[in-house]
Amino acid sequence: MEQIKNDQTGTVTVTEVDSSSSSMSTAMNEKTLTRDDINDLVTQLERSTKRAELIQSTEKGSTSAKNPVYVEWHGINYSISTENKKSWLNKFGDSDSKLETGKNVRNIIENIHGCANPGEVLAIMGPSGCGKTTLLNLLGDRVGSKGVQGTLALNGHKPTKNSKRFIAYCTQDDIFFPQLTVKETLSYTARLRLPREMSRHDKLNQVENTMALLNLTKCADTIIGDQRTRGVSGGERKRANIASELLTDPSVILLDEPTSGLDSSLALELTKILKEFAVKQKKTIIMVIHQPSSQVFESFDKLMLMADGHMVYFGERADVVNYLADQGFKCHPNFNPADYILELLNDNTIKQKLISAYAHKVRDDPTGKQIVEKYSLRSRTDNQLGNNVLNAPVTSERRWEATFLQQVSVLTERTFKQSRKVILSRVNLYQTIALAIICIVIWLQIPFAESNISDRVGSIFFCGVFWSFHPMIGAVSSFPLDLVMLSKERQSRSYRLLSYYLSKQIAELPLVILSPLIFTIPVYWASNLLPDFGRFIAYLVVILLGTVTSQSFGYFFGATLLNVQKSMIVSMVFMLASMLLGGFYIKHLPTGLNWIKYLSFIKYSYSLLMQIQFDSPKAQFRCAGPGELPAGQTSMCDIGDSPMSSISGISILNSEGLNDLPWYVNLIVLLGFCIVARILAYYSLRKNSRRNKE
Ligand SMILES: Nc1ncnc2c1ncn2[C@@H]1O[C@H](COP(=O)(O)OP(=O)(O)O)[C@@H](O)[C@H]1O
Ligand SMILES: [Mg+2]
Repeated sequence: MEQIKNDQTGTVTVTEVDSSSSSMSTAMNEKTLTRDDINDLVTQLERSTKRAELIQSTEKGSTSAKNPVYVEWHGINYSISTENKKSWLNKFGDSDSKLETGKNVRNIIENIHGCANPGEVLAIMGPSGCGKTTLLNLLGDRVGSKGVQGTLALNGHKPTKNSKRFIAYCTQDDIFFPQLTVKETLSYTARLRLPREMSRHDKLNQVENTMALLNLTKCADTIIGDQRTRGVSGGERKRANIASELLTDPSVILLDEPTSGLDSSLALELTKILKEFAVKQKKTIIMVIHQPSSQVFESFDKLMLMADGHMVYFGERADVVNYLADQGFKCHPNFNPADYILELLNDNTIKQKLISAYAHKVRDDPTGKQIVEKYSLRSRTDNQLGNNVLNAPVTSERRWEATFLQQVSVLTERTFKQSRKVILSRVNLYQTIALAIICIVIWLQIPFAESNISDRVGSIFFCGVFWSFHPMIGAVSSFPLDLVMLSKERQSRSYRLLSYYLSKQIAELPLVILSPLIFTIPVYWASNLLPDFGRFIAYLVVILLGTVTSQSFGYFFGATLLNVQKSMIVSMVFMLASMLLGGFYIKHLPTGLNWIKYLSFIKYSYSLLMQIQFDSPKAQFRCAGPGELPAGQTSMCDIGDSPMSSISGISILNSEGLNDLPWYVNLIVLLGFCIVARILAYYSLRKNSRRNKE
C-alpha cells in the first residue's frame, strides 16, 4: 500500500488506474512490469476514459447538475406497534384475554441524524438488522407518517409529494417484470420518467449510455427472468436495477446494498461510477453498504455507523479510524477499516460502549442539529455564492413527466409484452387446441332432431361456461402479482394509477379473447349449430363478452383481496355458484328464491346464446321416431292436440325457461356486469394502493 502511495502521481487518471487494479498494485510492489501488466493497465485506462465519456454523455440532458439537493435529518425516531392480538377462537373461554391483548411499541431507530451533500457519497454501515434499510426508507419518504418523529429537510425544506421525483431509490430487492429484456425494461422506464421535452431518440440514447456505463450492453437483449424462467445473472439484475434509477437523472440517489451479489471488481467499478456521477453531476449519494473492500471504503466521503437503531458515528469517512482509536479501538494499519468496524459492532459489549460514547459526545446537542449544521455544506455554499437555488424547496410543477396518453401508450406496450408470454403461452395454446378437438369429436354434426336437443343445449352451455371460467383464473392473479412493481413505480411517481389500470385493460383484451376465438370458430361449424353467418357472429360476440365479463370479475377479486390464493378461492366459489344458477342445472329454485338466479352473469350469457340458437325460424327439430327417445320419455310432438312433424326452437326456449327476458335485456345486463366489475376493481385497487402507502 505504501509503495502505491509513493508511486502515485498527481494526475487523476493514473491514480484511478492504480487504485482500481489489484494486479497493478502487486506489480508495483515487485517493481517489475510484465507485458500482461501493461496490457492490464491499458485496459483499465481505456475503461476509465470510456466511463468518463459515458458519464459526460448522460450529462447532456441532466437537470440534477442544476438542481443540487442537500439532504439533512436530525432527531429521527421510528417506532412500530406490534399488536398482541388473540384470535376469537383463543379468546373463547379465556377470562384473562383482555389483559393479554395489547400494543407493544418497538423502537426501530432512535435519535438518528446526518446529512448528505451534493457531490459527495455518504455510506451507512452497521450490522444487519440495525435499521439501515428503515432509515433509507425514511429518507426516501417510503414510510407513512405513523410512528415517525424528527426532521427531514431537502435544501432546508420539508419534502413535498412532488419532491420525490428528484429522489431515486434503488431497493435491495430487484423488482422487475421477468418477461422483459434489460433494454426493454430500461427503455420503458426512460419513456415514463425522463422529461417530456426530451425526444424519444435522446431518451433511448440515454438508455444505451447507461447500459454501457454499467456493463449491461452484453445482456441487453436477455430477459430479466425469475425463478421459473432463466434470465440474466444476479449481478446483472442488480446492475439493471441501478441503471433504471440512474437513468432518470435524479438529484439524490439512495441505494440499499448496491454491491451485494457483485464480485469485488464490479463492486469497485460501480462505486467509482457512483462517485464520478456525484462529483460531475452534483448528485447526492447515500448508500447502505454491507462489507465494502478497502478500496470501495476509501471512495466514501462521509460515513454513518449504526448499531441497534442508534448512532455510533457520523462524520468524515477519513476520521473514523481516529475516532475509534480515541475510544480505545485502534485499527491495525494493514486491516481493512470496514471489516474492523463491523467486527467491533458485532461484539455486544463494544457495541454498547460505542453507542454510549457517541451519545455522550452529542449530549449537548440531543437531536444532532448542530452536528448536521457542521457537516452540511448548504449554508456555507449558500453564503459564499449567495445562491437562492440551494434554499429553494425541492419540488416540481409537474406531477408526472409523461403525459396521460404517453403513460397509457407506454404501459399498454409494456403490459402487452409482459402478458403476451404468460397468457399466450404454448401450454395455453395446446390446451385450447386439445379442447377444441375433444369438443369437435364429441359434438360432431349434431342433427337437428328432437332426440339430440339435449346434446345441442349441453354443447352451448359448456362452451359458454368454459370461456367464462378460464379467463377469471388468469385475471385474479394479475393485480396481486403486479402490486410490488406498481407500488415501487408509483412511489417514484412514474405514472397515474388510472393510466396503469387502463393500459392493463387495453393490453390484455386482445390476448384474452384470442383463445376463445381459436376454439369457437371451428367448434361452432363442426358441431352443426345454426348454419347462419349472422347468428354465428352473434354467438361469437356473446362468448367473447362472457370471457371479458369473467375477466372483469377476476380483476375485481384480485384488486380487492390482493392475494392470489384468497382471490382464487373466492372466484372459484363465485364461478361455481354463477354456473349452478346459470339456468342449465337448476330450473326450479325453491319458492322465494327465484330471484337469486338473476345475480348470475352466466344466466344472461347462457340465455343469450340459447336465444341466438333457438329463437329463429330456421331452428326446427325433427320429431323423434319410435324408440329414438330414452324409455319412458314422451316426445314433445305427442303432447299437443294436433300432430307435428317438427318442434320449433322457441318452444324449446320456453320449456327451458330461458325466454323470461328479451335478448337485448340479457345483453345490456351482461354488459353492465362487465363494466361495473371493472369500475369496482379500479376503486378497490385505488383504495388498496392508498392503504399500502400509509
Ligand atoms: N414494518 C416492520 N415491521 C416489523 N419489524 C420491522 C419493520 N421494519 C423494520 N423492522 C425491524 O427493524 C429492524 C431493522 O430492519 P432493517 O432496517 O431492515 O435492517 P437492516 O439494517 O438490516 O437494513 C429489523 O429487526 C426488522 O425486523
Ligand atoms: Mg437492509
